[in-house]
Amino acid sequence: MNNRLNLCFFILSYMCMCLSAQYVPPFTEDCRSGMYPPNGPTFKGDVSWYTVDLDLPASKRWTDVISDKKTEMASMIQAIRDLADAFVPSGKLIQLVDKDLPLMVDTLPYPFNEEIRGIASVSGVPLGEVVLFNIFYEVFTVCTSLVAEDVNGNLIHARNLDFGLFMGWDLKNRSWVITEKLKPLVVNIDFTRNGQTVFKSTNFAGYVGMLTGIHQNSFTLTMNERFSLDGGYIGILEWILGKRDGMWMSFLTRSVLENATSYESAKALLSDTKLLAPAYFILGGNQSGEACIITRSRTQNISPLELNVKNGRWYVLETNYDHWKEPLFLDDRRTPAMKCMNQTTQTNISVKTVYDVLSTKPVLNKLTTYTTLMEVSKGTLESFIRDCPNPCMPW
Ligand SMILES: *[C@@H]1O[C@H](CO)[C@@H](O)[C@H](O)[C@H]1NC(C)=O
Ligand SMILES: *[C@@H]1O[C@H](CO)[C@@H](O)[C@H](O)[C@H]1NC(C)=O
Ligand SMILES: *[C@@H]1O[C@H](CO)[C@@H](O)[C@H](O)[C@H]1NC(C)=O
Ligand SMILES: *[C@@H]1O[C@H](CO)[C@@H](O)[C@H](O)[C@H]1NC(C)=O
Ligand SMILES: *[C@@H]1O[C@H](CO)[C@@H](O)[C@H](O)[C@H]1NC(C)=O
Repeated sequence: MNNRLNLCFFILSYMCMCLSAQYVPPFTEDCRSGMYPPNGPTFKGDVSWYTVDLDLPASKRWTDVISDKKTEMASMIQAIRDLADAFVPSGKLIQLVDKDLPLMVDTLPYPFNEEIRGIASVSGVPLGEVVLFNIFYEVFTVCTSLVAEDVNGNLIHARNLDFGLFMGWDLKNRSWVITEKLKPLVVNIDFTRNGQTVFKSTNFAGYVGMLTGIHQNSFTLTMNERFSLDGGYIGILEWILGKRDGMWMSFLTRSVLENATSYESAKALLSDTKLLAPAYFILGGNQSGEACIITRSRTQNISPLELNVKNGRWYVLETNYDHWKEPLFLDDRRTPAMKCMNQTTQTNISVKTVYDVLSTKPVLNKLTTYTTLMEVSKGTLESFIRDCPNPCMPW
């Protein structure tokens, strides 16, 4: 059978596995307080900073990051290989990835194609596996993102990045194998042009798209995955099979962080660009009232939700469910997060109290890889590697 079809079957069967997940009782707790500055068992470590110089040729930009993180990257890739072997024995799946996915890199737009080649060459990881790594993030992320306005009109944008759903549950450790392997790969990056910061992001070494970032003085942006029956992963399957209109979601996020210059232009690009799959974009500006949740189908922005302080909506918050619908009862992180936001009140909202909200189970869960806090008025981005001590929800 055609190898590309095989790959599609693999992705589809993975989706089915996800749907048949077991019910687990939610480990919820009272809203946390006094968690910041981060310490204790939910804080696993700080994140180091790197500079990526956008004036360098695309294939050279990631050399410093990858040289530093080579060992961690190899260990994560090995874990993915082991998982793939458990799924399709005798290394068949990885053979397919090594043989077929390198061809795919040529179909990706510049600068992503060149950057991915550069990463493969510095890390020594086969090109197909670096491509797989870059595609995986598009598919297996669940998260919580929020933008809140304080009483002085300052905007605070924060997120938990929860990644690795259904990617190998370690019974002994009660943790997700890939989530644990990703934690050492978390990096903060300062992207520069002419020696000046253009934007900053929290990222995984080896990954060229963006999930979390701040464009200096103008806007903050995070992306959450949107599971949707109408649209789903058809676009990604089509891309693999050769029909290539639409943009990879995290590539759009990267382009916007790199090249948009205002909240309004970022909003327009995120609302109108055709995508390969649905997504949520959570965008904050640099003025009072500038924040929104963009709920995307492949082609349009459905029912935009804007900050509206006058009418009492002083924050917007998104997990992985449409804001006008109830979250899946198995996975309600929205209600506990909103409960804690409401309890905090606008008067007391700050980077510190937002960190408390994001440290409360199940907003914090076994998938939570990092927490990022951004403040556009100060131009700050800080992030922390997280752990969720038992008892803790797997997601
Ligand atoms: C279990 O978790 C610890 C710490 O998170 C890690 O160092 C260790 O390698 C894990 N064990 C396995 C078998 O993955
Ligand atoms: C907000 O962003 C706009 C567009 O980038 C910029 O012109 C303006 O100076 C910024 N305002 C503040 C307060 O940073
Ligand atoms: C941003 O714009 C520049 C100049 O047009 C272009 O070379 C670059 O590839 C763009 N970056 C992304 C990530 O699309
Ligand atoms: C939080 O407050 C908002 C606005 O008053 C309200 O719509 C929402 O139901 C509250 N949510 C929770 C979980 O308390
Ligand atoms: C806001 O913070 C102050 C000082 O920390 C505290 O005394 C007060 O109880 C807080 N208010 C709420 C509603 O949590």
